[in-house]
Amino acid sequence: MALLTGSNKKNVAVFISGTGSNLKSLIKFSKLKKSQIIIKLIISNNSKAKGLQYANIYKIKKKVFDFKNTLSEKKVINELKNNDIHLICLAGFMKILSKNFINNFKGKILNIHPSLLPKYKGLNTHERAIRNKDKYSGCSVHIVNSRLDSGRIISQKKVRINKFDTPKTLAKKILTKEHKLYPAAIIKALSL
Ligand code: GAR
Repeated sequence: MALLTGSNKKNVAVFISGTGSNLKSLIKFSKLKKSQIIIKLIISNNSKAKGLQYANIYKIKKKVFDFKNTLSEKKVINELKNNDIHLICLAGFMKILSKNFINNFKGKILNIHPSLLPKYKGLNTHERAIRNKDKYSGCSVHIVNSRLDSGRIISQKKVRINKFDTPKTLAKKILTKEHKLYPAAIIKALSL
């Protein structure tokens, strides 16, 4: 499955729901010479998402949609098509996209998830890894398909869990790794 090729920079939309630290790292990556992407659009389902500040700081177009029904999703699809978006990066986006939406961008939606998939799909990944006394957790970037957190894995990064870790400390350690993993995974995905 070829995602994208070519030497021209590809237009990317980043979807967020909250803090947006991954968004910030993707914006920084997009500004590097070696990066093949331009972040053209930031989309959120949450008008109060802290990460929306980066749209103002970096002068990137932002849009908020509630994603509550087909009509709202249709508006998002139109926005993406009007902006010639080739790749969608979900970065802390906490809504489940419909099958129809995913089919419109088949193979062109990436998600970052805070666990070593296929372990711990869904929510509360850090609590579950600690409760199960796992030695490692980590993060994964995968292609989004219609099953939750189940699409082809592009890249993963492991993080050691120590006996003093709490869900909070583990989340923080993993987030730092996410900021490196996502740009690397984009480079890899664009070369597939
Ligand atoms: C990240 O840890 C990301 O992996 C996770 O939310 C956090 C968002 O942080 N995503 C999910 O749990 C998706 N199921 P950020 O807003 O600072 O990028």
